[in-house]
Amino acid sequence: MSSVTDVDVGAYLAARGGLVDDALEAALPAADRPPQILHQAMRYCVLGGGKRLRPVLVLASAEACGGTPQAVLPVACAVELIHAYSLIHDDLPAMDDSDTRHGRPTCHIAFGEAIAILTGDALHALAFHLITQSSSGCGAERTLVAAREIAGAIGTEGMVGGQVLDLLGEGRTFPAPSPGLPVGSIAEFVPQIHVRKTAALIRASVRAGAMLSGGEPATLEALSAYGEQVGLAYQIIDDVLDVVGDERALGKHAGSDAAKATYPAAFGVAGSREIAARLTDEAVAALGPLGDRGALLRDLAHLLLVRER
Ligand code: IPE
Ligand code: IPE
Ligand code: MG
Ligand code: MG
Ligand code: MG
Repeated sequence: MSSVTDVDVGAYLAARGGLVDDALEAALPAADRPPQILHQAMRYCVLGGGKRLRPVLVLASAEACGGTPQAVLPVACAVELIHAYSLIHDDLPAMDDSDTRHGRPTCHIAFGEAIAILTGDALHALAFHLITQSSSGCGAERTLVAAREIAGAIGTEGMVGGQVLDLLGEGRTFPAPSPGLPVGSIAEFVPQIHVRKTAALIRASVRAGAMLSGGEPATLEALSAYGEQVGLAYQIIDDVLDVVGDERALGKHAGSDAAKATYPAAFGVAGSREIAARLTDEAVAALGPLGDRGALLRDLAHLLLVRER
C-alpha cells in the first residue's frame, strides 16, 4: 500500500476506501435488528455507493501529520455518516426532490419519507457516537477538539445553514434584495451557499484528521486553506457535472439543479471550470509547508478536478 509520500493516488483511494467500507459495515446496526426497516435503510444508504471522499481526507490528512489510519478511522466513518445523512435529507421532496442516487432509488423512494427523515437522524447520532470512540486511539482531548470542529462545520454556520441558503436561492431572479438573501447578485450569493453547504464539512474532515494526529499549527493552517479550497472546487464540479455529466456515471439525475443558484448559472460551465481549477491551484500551493507529506493531498485535489462523477 502506498504511503502519503510515495504517491499513487488511485491505489491510495482504493486501499483507504476499502478500509472505510469495512469499518462502516461493522459500525452500522445489523439489518435484522429491530426496528429492521430503520437499520435496513441506514445500511442501504451508507453501503450502497459513494466516493468516500470525506473519510479518505480524514485519513490522508492524519497520515500527512504522522498519524495512523486506524487511530482516526472512527472519525473518518463519522464524517461519511454525516455526509450520507445530508444526502438523504437533500433528496427529500421538500428539498431537492430527487428519486435516484448511486444508481438506485433514493431513501424516501425505497423506504418512505418518514423513515428517510429518521434514517438521516439516526446516522447523525451514530456519527457522534463513533467520534467518541476515537478517544482510545487519539486521546480524549484531541477527540473533543475534533468533535467540536465537526459539529461547528455541519450546523447553522456550515452545512445546514448552506442548505437553507441553497433553498432560499431556488427559483430566484437575481438581483433579489429580498428577506433571507444576504446579497443581491448570484455571483456574490452562490459562493456563500457552497462554502457552507459543502466546503465546511470537507475542510473539517481535513482539519479533524490533523487535529487528531497532533498536527503543528502551521500545518493545520495550511490544511485548513487546502480543505476550504478543495471543498469549494468540489461543489463547483458537482454543479458542472449536473449540466454536462453523464447520468449513468453520476448515478443521479443530471439537470436537476436548473432552478438553483449554481456556479454554472452564475459563471457558465467554462467559467466555473476555470474557477475550480484556480481554487485547486491555490489549494495545492497552500500545501507548501508540508513538503513531500503533501504529495498525496496534492494529487487528490487534481483528481477531483477532472472527475466525471
Ligand atoms: C454529493 O457529494 C453532494 C455534494 C456535496 C457535492 P459526493 O459527490 O461526495 O457524494 P458521494 O458520496 O460520492 O455519492
Ligand atoms: C448537496 O448538494 C449538498 C449537501 C450538503 C447535501 P447537491 O444538492 O448539489 O448534491 P447532489 O447533486 O444532490 O448530490
Ligand atoms: Mg441540494
Ligand atoms: Mg441535491
Ligand atoms: Mg449537485
